Amino acid sequence: MCGIVGYVGHQSAGPILLEGLHRLEYRGYDSSGIAVLDRDGAIAVLKRQGKLRDLEAAIDVMPAGGAGIGHTRWATHGVPSDRNAHPHASSSGDVVVVQNGIVENYRSLKVELESSLLDRGQGWLSETDTEVIPELIARELDRGCSFVEALRAALGRLQGANAVAAFHRADPSRIYAARKGSAGGIVIGYGDGEMFIASDLPALLPHTTAVYHLEDGEIATIDAEGAVVDRANQPPLRPQPQRVELDPVAIARGPYRHFMLKEMYEQPRALSDTIRGRARLDPPSALADEFNLTDNQLRSVERVLVIGMGTSLHAAMIGRWWLERIAGIPADFDNASEFRFRAPVIGSSTLVVSVTQSGETIDTLGAMDQVRERWGAPQVVITNVDGSEATRKADASILLRCGPEVGVASTKTFVGSLAALYLLACRIGRARGALDETELTESLEHLLTVPSLVERGLQLSEQCSEIAKSYTSAANFLVLGRGIEHPIAMEAALKCKEISYVHAEGYAAGEMKHGPIALLDQKFPVIALATRGPLFDKMMSAIQQVSARQAPVIAIGDEGDTELAELADHYLGVPHATDLLTPFALTPVVQLLAYHIALARGLDIDQPRNLAKTVTVE
Ligand code: G6P
Repeated sequence: MCGIVGYVGHQSAGPILLEGLHRLEYRGYDSSGIAVLDRDGAIAVLKRQGKLRDLEAAIDVMPAGGAGIGHTRWATHGVPSDRNAHPHASSSGDVVVVQNGIVENYRSLKVELESSLLDRGQGWLSETDTEVIPELIARELDRGCSFVEALRAALGRLQGANAVAAFHRADPSRIYAARKGSAGGIVIGYGDGEMFIASDLPALLPHTTAVYHLEDGEIATIDAEGAVVDRANQPPLRPQPQRVELDPVAIARGPYRHFMLKEMYEQPRALSDTIRGRARLDPPSALADEFNLTDNQLRSVERVLVIGMGTSLHAAMIGRWWLERIAGIPADFDNASEFRFRAPVIGSSTLVVSVTQSGETIDTLGAMDQVRERWGAPQVVITNVDGSEATRKADASILLRCGPEVGVASTKTFVGSLAALYLLACRIGRARGALDETELTESLEHLLTVPSLVERGLQLSEQCSEIAKSYTSAANFLVLGRGIEHPIAMEAALKCKEISYVHAEGYAAGEMKHGPIALLDQKFPVIALATRGPLFDKMMSAIQQVSARQAPVIAIGDEGDTELAELADHYLGVPHATDLLTPFALTPVVQLLAYHIALARGLDIDQPRNLAKTVTVE
C-alpha cells in the first residue's frame, strides 16, 4: 500500500528520498514520485507510473535541495498514471503533499474548491482524492493561518483515515507530517543535523534507529534539528525519540533470490523466537509473561472470536480449531471486513483475538474499534509489529518476534501467528481447567517440535520445484484439505493467486462433490493435503473421486505413505506431526509449491502486481 518518505537536512534530499522509497517497495505500488524544495523556494516534482526504476530513468538531473517528500502510490482513486502519482501541489504551486489513505468526501470537497480554481483559470490536474488536500491547506494559508493551523483545518475537513506529509514553498527549512485515523503509520527518524520520515521503519534504518511514531491526531513540524509535535488543544511538545532494535541486516535479502524465499527459510528461527520463553515445561506454563490478561479474566471468557484478513484469516481459522480442542471453549473466526458491517452478537464475555502481522490492516483495526465501542469486550492482538496501531487498541498483545517481513505474501508471520494462537489456546485451556498439568506439558512439548517440522518441510524445495515445472501452464488448481488442514488448503490457494497469478480454490474436500468436481478434467490439477490424521480415509476417498475424473493429483501427506503415493501423480512426504500440528508440517511445502510455480513463470515474487503488504484502505 502507499508509502511515504520525507527528508530535511544537510544532504541533497532527492537520492535519500529515492533510496527510502526503494525500501518501501515491498508494500506494493504502481507509481511513485518525489518533490524537492531548495533553499530559494524552487520546487521540483518528479513522478512516474510504474516502478521506481521508471521514475529514476526519467530523472536527467537530480534536483538540488535539502528538503523533500516522496511517495509510492497504490492506486485507489484514479488509474495508475504519471498525473495521478503523488506528490500533488496546490493550484498556486506553493503547497506540496503526499498522502496515504482515502479522502472519502473528496467529491464534495472538489465541488466546494472548484470555483476558486476556475477563477484562476485552472482545473483539477488529477483524478485523485489527494489533490483536495494541498488546495484546502493553501486556502487556509491565504486566510492568514500558520502552516500547522492550515494543515489541521484541512485534515478536519477530511472524512476517512489519512496520513500526509507536506511542505510549503515559503519555508524551505521544514517539512510536515500528520496522521488522522489509522491510515498506516508515520515514523520520524532522528539523524545528526538531518531528519527523516517514513511510513515504516525499514526506510529509516540505514540512517537512524532513533525514532518517534506519530500518533493519531498529531502534526509534526520537522526541521534539520528535530521535530515539534502539535496536538489539538494541547501545547506543542518535542517528543523524546525511542531507540529501535531492528537490525538492518535482517531486512536485507542476503544470498536469497527473493525476500519471500529468505523469509520461508527463516521460519524455523522465527517460530523458535515466537515460542521462546512462552512454552515452559517445568512447571508447565503457556504465555506466562508479557501477557496482560490474568487467569481470572480468562476464566470469565465464555467465547473466543478470532478475526483477521488474508493469510491472517487463515491463521484465525486454525486458531478456532485449537481453541475448541485444546481450551474447550466455544470459538469462531471471522473476516474482519465482513464482521465490521454485520450485526454480530457478541458480549463483554467474548474475547476477541485479532491476527494481523502488520498491526495496521484497516479492516482489522476498524473491527477492533467496533468491538471496543459497542461491547467493550476484552481484546488480544497477535502481531509482528511492536507499537503498531493494533497493539494500542488491544488490551493484550502477543508479539510474533519474527523479524521484519518484506515479501508481500506473508510466510513466516503466518507460522508465527499459528504458534501464538496455539499458545493462547493452551493458556486459556489451563486457566479454565480444560487442561491438567500433564496435558499442558504434552501440548507444549508438541509445540516445541514445530520449528524442526518446518525445517524438514523446507527440505522439499527441489521436489516442489520439479513438480511446479510440470504445471507452469496450468490455469487452475483445486486445493483440498479436511479438518485442520482445510485452512491450509485455503492458504495454499491464496499463495498461488498472490504470487503465481494462478486461479486456485481452497476447498474442504467434503464440499468438492457439491460443485468443484464439475470443473475437473486432465487439465485441472488438484493438490490434496492428506496426512494420517482422523480424516485420512475421507481424504483418500476424495482423491479417488478426483482421479476418476482424470485430474492430476499432487498429494502431500506423511513421509513414507506408499498408499497415498500410489494413488497420486505426484507425492510429497512431510514429517509426521500430531493431528493438531499438521498445519506446521504442510505450510512450508504449499508455500514452496506456489513459490516455484511463480518462479517457473518468471513473475515478480516479492512485489506481486496489485497487491500490498499493508492494506491501509478499505
Ligand atoms: C495483505 C498481505 C497479506 C496479509 C493481509 C493481512 O493482503 O499481502 O500477506 O495476509 O494483507 O495483513 P495483516 O497485516 O493484517 O496480517
